[in-house]
Amino acid sequence: MATVFSKEVEDDLRARGYSRRQFGRISSLLSVGAAFGSLMPEAFAAAPRKDPGFVGHTDMIRISTNECWTGPFPSPAAAGQAIVLQGNRYEPDHLRKTLIETAATVEGVPVGNVLPWPGSSEPLLRTVICFCSPTRGVVTANPTYEAVWGSAEWLRTKLTRVPLSAANNYATDVRAMLRADPNAGMYYICSPNNPTGTVTSLEDIQWLADNKPKDAVLVVDEAYIHFSTARSAIPLTQGRDDVLVLRTFSKLFGMAGLRLGLTFASPALHDRMMRFDGENLISMLSVVAMAVGGPSLVEKDMILQRRNDMIAARDMTLAHLTRRNIRFIPGSQANMILVDWKKPAPAVKEAFARQKIEIGRNWPIWPTMSRVTIGSMRDMEGFCAALDRIMA
Ligand SMILES: Cc1ncc(COP(=O)(O)O)c(C=O)c1O
Repeated sequence: MATVFSKEVEDDLRARGYSRRQFGRISSLLSVGAAFGSLMPEAFAAAPRKDPGFVGHTDMIRISTNECWTGPFPSPAAAGQAIVLQGNRYEPDHLRKTLIETAATVEGVPVGNVLPWPGSSEPLLRTVICFCSPTRGVVTANPTYEAVWGSAEWLRTKLTRVPLSAANNYATDVRAMLRADPNAGMYYICSPNNPTGTVTSLEDIQWLADNKPKDAVLVVDEAYIHFSTARSAIPLTQGRDDVLVLRTFSKLFGMAGLRLGLTFASPALHDRMMRFDGENLISMLSVVAMAVGGPSLVEKDMILQRRNDMIAARDMTLAHLTRRNIRFIPGSQANMILVDWKKPAPAVKEAFARQKIEIGRNWPIWPTMSRVTIGSMRDMEGFCAALDRIMA
């Protein structure tokens, strides 16, 4: 039986006396997301590295994994601290119900269309399992967030990557995506896109929803939408069973380590995602995450303030790059920029690491560009100063 375990894990299990037949049972005991943990690019990049030369995060400016530079908003954080003392209860205060109701009210959709998850990696990874097959592949932009690539490659699903449209502000080229594979099982759009921060218009997203094969699913990943003024695709999920929108609390809400995400879709589409394990497995969320996440959604002023703080730090950084004649992909509406060093990006990343600045990774399609997360103004001043030293 094929399993999702690496050879290392299999050897370990075998050494511990498990038979091959038991591997399948073990893997089915794990949630799909956990079994695919190593395919979650940001979490993987943030994990402590094994090589002894790695300095560690504590003394570095961390602008590599698109986290927020600061934690949850003060009043939701206080609610989280208070609920810790009721942590003996599985569900002390209808937190899950309240979170769903709050999200439904904020987004103007029925409560039956909202499903909470421990982050958005898990639902994202399972989309490929649920909506694709040996004959129906997945289509994404390039570059884009690679979690979907990882699971498609793991499952040997056909994967088609279509370059972003340089002629259209580096938006996802929805028409080229459909042309590239008119019979895919799933089309994935990340808007604002990771790693460029560029936005795909709602009109284009709607066009793909209406023109893709009827039985294919359009997945719209809005991990960074609160950093932008882009219009959400959540209204498109209404009255149809083929559009799924993903949200996470890991970015603007400053909750990456708390693990909370939401998906918006019709109950029928959510049921398709739950067919392996039912809703129970993923519905046991940390009470702390739910206590912090729910009230965060209604903190309108705080959301705006944080977005504006990020924009100020991003504008300052872009102005510095421009002064230094360093090219970047224009039009980011999120907490990241893609900087073109005009030389291999890994060497530049190393140079920044020596300056105690941890910048992001690069994507194979653009090997001379690094993604740089926008941190606090102070983080970005540190980045600019290190840049000056490196380029001196
Ligand atoms: C576009 C996108 N989607 C999903 C995720 C997953 O985030 P999480 O699992 O923390 O919710 C990330 C993380 O960086 C991301 O950039």
